[in-house]
Amino acid sequence: MTDPVLSLTDARLTLPGNAGPVEILRGITLNIQRGETVGLVGPSGSGKSSLLMLMAGLERATGGQVRALGQDLTALDEDALARFRRGNMGVVFQSFHLIPTMTALENVAIPLELAGAPDAFPRAEAELAAVGLAHRIDHYPSQLSGGEQQRVALARAAAPRPALFLADEPTGNLDATNGAAIMDLLFSLRDRHGATLVLVTHDADLARRCDRIIRLADGRLATADLKAAE
Ligand SMILES: Nc1ncnc2c1ncn2[C@@H]1O[C@H](COP(=O)(O)OP(=O)(O)OP(=O)(O)O)[C@@H](O)[C@H]1O
Ligand SMILES: [Mg+2]
Repeated sequence: MTDPVLSLTDARLTLPGNAGPVEILRGITLNIQRGETVGLVGPSGSGKSSLLMLMAGLERATGGQVRALGQDLTALDEDALARFRRGNMGVVFQSFHLIPTMTALENVAIPLELAGAPDAFPRAEAELAAVGLAHRIDHYPSQLSGGEQQRVALARAAAPRPALFLADEPTGNLDATNGAAIMDLLFSLRDRHGATLVLVTHDADLARRCDRIIRLADGRLATADLKAAE
């Protein structure tokens, strides 16, 4: 059996709050296998985005272990984490984190350039066309609607064909047609490139297409998922 792509062992996240430390994730143990698509669901505030940040190494676990693609993320410093992510992960945040001074095309092309792709700009253009934004490539983020910004962020994360794709509410701002197109894009990353997908979602259609649902409640795996995590 191959190693899991993601392996969390009693992962914890406690952050300082005004009224004392806040236990955001309270001991998460789970394994996700290569090529799996996992829907991460649960009520608002249950810790879904925080868990995605731990998986991406963008937030450091305050306890336990987080391994991604065979690498112990808790052992890497910021620079090593950034390099590791660049080579292996696509991440789409709940708020899209586009670079405001760059056009849609530049936002998508930059990670390709950083990865050394010689054809970064034509590829970025094709990626934007694939999310239905061929007519918006020269727009700055402030000139795009929320759903358009979301699609640029998805194109940017998908363009380098990452082995591990983590997205927070990827269809959250989209109408049914665009949402379906984005779902097809996401699942084609798995079908064509063998990517592993972890998708935070409230979208029942999207959750249904995933191989497995992981449910969070108050910073823990909901009981129904505990067996599956063993
Ligand atoms: N930097 C922080 N400091 C203190 N508490 C935080 C911080 N970030 C998040 N929290 C708290 O952690 C909990 C989990 O937040 P998180 O963003 O992971 O929830 P979520 O499940 O993604 O919710 P939503 O569905 O609303 O996006 C929330 O109660 C939130 O208030
Ligand atoms: Mg969230």
